[in-house]
Amino acid sequence: MRFCDNSDISPAEEEQIRRGAEIIRSGGVVAFPTETVYGLGANAFDEDAVKKIFELKGRPQDNPLIIHIAKKEDVFLVAREIPKNAEILIDKFWPGPLTLVLPKNPSVPDIVTANLDTVAVRMPNHKIALKLIELSAVPISAPSANISGKPSATKPEHVKKYFGDKVFIIEGEVKIGIESTVIDLTVSPPVILRPGGISKEMIEKEIGRVDVLADSDVKIAKSPGIKYKHYSPNSDVYIFMNRKDILKFLEFERSKLSGKKVLVALFRYLGEEGEKIRDMGFNITLSGRTLEDFARNLFNLLIVAGETYDIIIFEGVEERGIGLGIMNRLKKAGKKMFY
Ligand code: TXA
Ligand code: MG
Repeated sequence: MRFCDNSDISPAEEEQIRRGAEIIRSGGVVAFPTETVYGLGANAFDEDAVKKIFELKGRPQDNPLIIHIAKKEDVFLVAREIPKNAEILIDKFWPGPLTLVLPKNPSVPDIVTANLDTVAVRMPNHKIALKLIELSAVPISAPSANISGKPSATKPEHVKKYFGDKVFIIEGEVKIGIESTVIDLTVSPPVILRPGGISKEMIEKEIGRVDVLADSDVKIAKSPGIKYKHYSPNSDVYIFMNRKDILKFLEFERSKLSGKKVLVALFRYLGEEGEKIRDMGFNITLSGRTLEDFARNLFNLLIVAGETYDIIIFEGVEERGIGLGIMNRLKKAGKKMFY
């Protein structure tokens, strides 16, 4: 995941990317795949174009966007200063799912950064995203391609569901499935504002101690997006850390649940409990066989199952590695937590 995705671009893909780049250059908005999730992109230096992103998503104006670049040295186009630890992380993890919050270059329009004096920037590791930025010849600001508050899109059909024909969609595959890690390097020690594909453990190996923004700190909203409702599917989502508790819950609440469509998503294997749950008449699925699988499936599960089920029950995972990112998204999607 740390190396540039150089696989060949097919003529059909190239055609779509060229069209996308034309749209970006003429001030429009394009949905494109990255290695994390789909982005909804526009020329980061074109205020009016960026405004369209906010309008399409229904995104609050005080929630800043991430700028995407195709060459490491382009970080200077958007940041005023690159601290030593930023240099180390760029060398190690770009292109990749790591977003750096750095002092903002005054040339970046205020609408992109929601008037903050910092800017979030990353170089995605995806051949289509990189080629699109290269051909557009400008940095691209792009949030995840979802209606504000809804689960992020990981497939072209999710984008289509959210935006219909209002945006041109470049088709491609997403590999990781949850958004990039966001780390604020303007404070000491640096703070992970959002966990993702590059884990705290991986970062600490390179630059030493970093903090993780605690859920209870959300009120101070260091990362403005964090205070908003997120990842909410159309179903109620419950998370249990123990599958025995899922069984107990289903048994105790059986009468309340009758008549409701319930999906239970277990991690790794179905096992005895899974069979019991199925025998009780509930629908069951695997969230993934590995943490990486789970991350890749998560938003698709929330979006697709959200259309059918009244309640989705997840077996939670340990908050380590990408598990921290998975649980971060689940807790935000969940209306209730049971431990
Ligand atoms: O993987 C990703 O990061 C995807 C793909 C498309 O690159 N993008 C994405 O963007 O997730 P978005 O807008 O959904 O989330 C960006 C997060 C928000 O929580 C926002 O508040 C935060 O980054 N952010 C952006 N600029 C910031 C800044 N200057 N300081 C602190 N947080 C910032
Ligand atoms: Mg988002």
